[in-house]
Amino acid sequence: MLSIAGLGIFKTIEELSIDEWNKQIDVMLDGAFFLTHYTLPHIYNQKQGKLIYITSLWGPKRSCSKCVGYNSAKAGVSALADGVRKEVRAKNMQIGVTEIRPGTVATEFFDKAHYKGGVDPEKVLNADDVAEGIITSLKSRSPTAFNLMEMEGTNPPY
Ligand SMILES: NC(=O)c1ccc[n+]([C@@H]2O[C@H](COP(=O)([O-])OP(=O)(O)OC[C@H]3O[C@@H](n4cnc5c(N)ncnc54)[C@H](OP(=O)(O)O)[C@@H]3O)[C@@H](O)[C@H]2O)c1
Repeated sequence: MLSIAGLGIFKTIEELSIDEWNKQIDVMLDGAFFLTHYTLPHIYNQKQGKLIYITSLWGPKRSCSKCVGYNSAKAGVSALADGVRKEVRAKNMQIGVTEIRPGTVATEFFDKAHYKGGVDPEKVLNADDVAEGIITSLKSRSPTAFNLMEMEGTNPPY
Protein backbone atom coordinates (compact mmCIF):
# COMPACT_ATOMS: atom_id res chain seq x y z
CA MET A 1 0.00 0.00 0.00
CA LEU A 2 1.30 3.43 -0.91
CA SER A 3 -0.28 6.54 0.62
CA ILE A 4 1.03 9.40 -1.51
CA ALA A 5 -1.77 11.80 -2.49
CA GLY A 6 -1.00 15.36 -1.44
CA LEU A 7 -1.39 19.01 -2.25
CA GLY A 8 -0.27 22.31 -0.81
CA ILE A 9 -2.28 25.50 -0.34
CA PHE A 10 0.19 28.19 0.65
CA LYS A 11 -1.78 30.65 2.76
CA THR A 12 -1.65 32.02 6.30
CA ILE A 13 -4.15 30.66 8.79
CA GLU A 14 -6.16 33.87 8.43
CA GLU A 15 -6.24 33.61 4.64
CA LEU A 16 -6.97 29.89 4.54
CA SER A 17 -10.69 29.19 4.08
CA ILE A 18 -12.39 26.34 5.89
CA ASP A 19 -12.84 24.57 2.55
CA GLU A 20 -9.13 24.89 1.82
CA TRP A 21 -8.25 23.57 5.28
CA ASN A 22 -10.67 20.66 4.85
CA LYS A 23 -9.36 19.83 1.38
CA GLN A 24 -5.82 19.33 2.67
CA ILE A 25 -7.00 17.25 5.63
CA ASP A 26 -9.33 15.25 3.35
CA VAL A 27 -6.74 14.41 0.72
CA MET A 28 -3.79 13.73 3.00
CA LEU A 29 -4.97 12.66 6.47
CA ASP A 30 -8.40 11.22 5.68
CA GLY A 31 -6.91 9.71 2.50
CA ALA A 32 -4.26 7.88 4.53
CA PHE A 33 -6.89 6.69 7.01
CA PHE A 34 -9.28 5.31 4.36
CA LEU A 35 -6.49 3.65 2.39
CA THR A 36 -5.14 1.95 5.52
CA HIS A 37 -8.56 1.04 6.89
CA TYR A 38 -9.59 -0.79 3.74
CA THR A 39 -6.21 -2.28 2.81
CA LEU A 40 -4.95 -3.58 6.13
CA PRO A 41 -7.39 -6.53 6.44
CA HIS A 42 -6.09 -7.87 3.10
CA ILE A 43 -2.49 -7.43 4.22
CA TYR A 44 -3.25 -9.27 7.47
CA ASN A 45 -4.84 -12.07 5.44
CA GLN A 46 -1.68 -12.58 3.43
CA LYS A 47 0.45 -12.16 6.60
CA GLN A 48 3.02 -10.04 4.81
CA GLY A 49 3.30 -6.74 3.02
CA LYS A 50 4.41 -3.11 3.21
CA LEU A 51 2.57 0.04 4.07
CA ILE A 52 4.37 3.14 2.86
CA TYR A 53 3.35 6.67 3.79
CA ILE A 54 4.80 9.69 2.00
CA THR A 55 4.74 12.52 4.51
CA SER A 56 7.18 15.44 4.47
CA LEU A 57 9.89 17.05 6.54
CA TRP A 58 7.37 19.90 6.68
CA GLY A 59 4.82 18.90 9.28
CA PRO A 60 6.23 16.23 11.56
CA LYS A 61 9.73 17.78 11.70
CA ARG A 62 9.56 21.48 10.83
CA SER A 63 7.13 24.15 9.71
CA CYS A 64 7.14 26.38 6.68
CA SER A 65 5.38 29.71 6.65
CA LYS A 66 1.94 29.77 5.00
CA CYS A 67 1.79 25.98 5.29
CA VAL A 68 -0.36 25.51 8.36
CA GLY A 69 -2.85 23.20 6.64
CA TYR A 70 -0.17 21.16 4.92
CA ASN A 71 1.98 20.93 8.06
CA SER A 72 -0.99 19.79 10.14
CA ALA A 73 -2.14 17.17 7.65
CA LYS A 74 1.34 15.72 7.18
CA ALA A 75 2.02 15.65 10.93
CA GLY A 76 -1.26 13.77 11.26
CA VAL A 77 -0.25 11.21 8.64
CA SER A 78 3.06 10.76 10.44
CA ALA A 79 1.22 10.05 13.72
CA LEU A 80 -1.14 7.68 11.90
CA ALA A 81 1.80 5.76 10.42
CA ASP A 82 3.43 5.44 13.83
CA GLY A 83 0.24 4.16 15.41
CA VAL A 84 -0.40 1.69 12.59
CA ARG A 85 3.17 0.42 12.97
CA LYS A 86 2.52 -0.41 16.62
CA GLU A 87 -0.70 -2.24 15.74
CA VAL A 88 1.00 -4.19 12.98
CA ARG A 89 3.98 -5.12 15.18
CA ALA A 90 1.63 -6.65 17.72
CA LYS A 91 0.46 -9.11 15.03
CA ASN A 92 4.00 -10.46 14.67
CA MET A 93 3.74 -10.86 10.89
CA GLN A 94 6.12 -9.95 8.08
CA ILE A 95 4.52 -6.54 7.62
CA GLY A 96 6.50 -3.31 7.46
CA VAL A 97 5.34 0.28 7.89
CA THR A 98 7.64 2.88 6.36
CA GLU A 99 7.22 6.64 6.59
CA ILE A 100 9.18 8.57 3.98
CA ARG A 101 9.70 12.26 4.76
CA PRO A 102 11.15 14.09 1.78
CA GLY A 103 12.32 17.67 1.88
CA THR A 104 11.51 19.73 -1.20
CA VAL A 105 11.10 17.66 -4.38
CA ALA A 106 11.04 19.21 -7.87
CA THR A 107 7.61 18.09 -9.09
CA GLU A 108 4.42 19.70 -10.39
CA PHE A 109 3.36 20.17 -6.77
CA PHE A 110 4.58 23.78 -6.69
CA ASP A 111 3.00 24.73 -10.05
CA LYS A 112 -0.33 23.34 -8.88
CA ALA A 113 0.04 25.34 -5.64
CA HIS A 114 0.90 28.54 -7.60
CA TYR A 115 3.97 28.74 -5.35
CA LYS A 116 5.84 32.01 -5.87
CA GLY A 117 8.99 31.15 -3.91
CA GLY A 118 10.81 29.39 -6.76
CA VAL A 119 12.45 25.98 -6.47
CA ASP A 120 15.91 25.29 -7.89
CA PRO A 121 15.68 21.71 -9.23
CA GLU A 122 19.47 21.33 -8.93
CA LYS A 123 19.36 21.85 -5.17
CA VAL A 124 16.36 19.79 -4.17
CA LEU A 125 15.33 16.15 -4.46
CA ASN A 126 13.69 14.78 -7.58
CA ALA A 127 10.99 12.15 -7.95
CA ASP A 128 13.57 9.42 -8.61
CA ASP A 129 15.12 10.02 -5.18
CA VAL A 130 11.78 9.41 -3.51
CA ALA A 131 11.12 6.40 -5.77
CA GLU A 132 14.48 4.98 -4.63
CA GLY A 133 13.30 5.27 -1.03
CA ILE A 134 10.09 3.44 -1.86
CA ILE A 135 11.96 0.67 -3.68
CA THR A 136 14.43 0.31 -0.81
CA SER A 137 11.57 -0.21 1.60
CA LEU A 138 9.82 -2.68 -0.71
CA LYS A 139 12.98 -4.72 -1.28
CA SER A 140 13.95 -4.86 2.37
CA ARG A 141 13.88 -8.35 3.81
CA SER A 142 13.22 -7.08 7.32
CA PRO A 143 9.84 -5.47 7.97
CA THR A 144 11.38 -3.21 10.58
CA ALA A 145 14.57 -2.09 8.83
CA PHE A 146 13.11 1.10 7.35
CA ASN A 147 10.58 2.63 9.70
CA LEU A 148 11.42 6.25 8.90
CA MET A 149 13.38 7.69 6.01
CA GLU A 150 14.20 11.39 6.01
CA MET A 151 15.40 12.77 2.69
CA GLU A 152 16.95 16.15 2.00
CA GLY A 153 18.35 17.95 -1.05
CA THR A 154 21.68 19.75 -1.05
CA ASN A 155 20.23 23.05 0.09
CA PRO A 156 18.25 22.48 3.30
CA PRO A 157 15.84 23.74 4.48
CA TYR A 158 14.71 24.66 0.98
N1 LIG B 1 7.07 18.17 -3.95
C1 LIG B 1 7.56 18.29 -2.72
O1 LIG B 1 8.38 19.18 -2.41
C2 LIG B 1 7.14 17.32 -1.65
C3 LIG B 1 7.90 17.30 -0.45
C4 LIG B 1 7.54 16.42 0.55
C5 LIG B 1 6.46 15.58 0.37
N2 LIG B 1 5.74 15.65 -0.79
C6 LIG B 1 4.59 14.77 -0.91
O2 LIG B 1 4.83 13.84 -1.93
C7 LIG B 1 3.56 13.38 -2.43
C8 LIG B 1 3.57 13.46 -3.94
O3 LIG B 1 3.61 14.84 -4.30
P1 LIG B 1 4.34 15.38 -5.61
O4 LIG B 1 5.43 16.26 -5.18
O5 LIG B 1 4.64 14.24 -6.54
O6 LIG B 1 3.22 16.33 -6.19
P2 LIG B 1 2.23 16.12 -7.43
O7 LIG B 1 2.99 15.85 -8.65
O8 LIG B 1 1.32 17.32 -7.38
O9 LIG B 1 1.43 14.82 -7.04
C9 LIG B 1 0.39 14.85 -6.07
C10 LIG B 1 -0.39 13.56 -6.11
O10 LIG B 1 -1.50 13.67 -5.21
C11 LIG B 1 -2.69 13.37 -5.93
N3 LIG B 1 -3.82 14.18 -5.48
C12 LIG B 1 -3.85 15.52 -5.27
N4 LIG B 1 -5.10 15.90 -4.92
C13 LIG B 1 -5.87 14.78 -4.94
C14 LIG B 1 -7.24 14.51 -4.68
N5 LIG B 1 -8.10 15.49 -4.36
N6 LIG B 1 -7.67 13.23 -4.78
C15 LIG B 1 -6.82 12.24 -5.12
N7 LIG B 1 -5.52 12.42 -5.39
C16 LIG B 1 -5.04 13.68 -5.30
C17 LIG B 1 -2.38 13.73 -7.37
O11 LIG B 1 -3.25 13.01 -8.21
P3 LIG B 1 -3.57 13.58 -9.70
O12 LIG B 1 -2.30 13.52 -10.46
O13 LIG B 1 -4.62 12.64 -10.17
O14 LIG B 1 -4.03 14.97 -9.49
C18 LIG B 1 -0.93 13.27 -7.50
O15 LIG B 1 -0.86 11.88 -7.74
C19 LIG B 1 2.50 14.25 -1.76
O16 LIG B 1 1.98 13.57 -0.66
C20 LIG B 1 3.30 15.44 -1.29
O17 LIG B 1 2.69 16.09 -0.20
C21 LIG B 1 6.06 16.48 -1.80
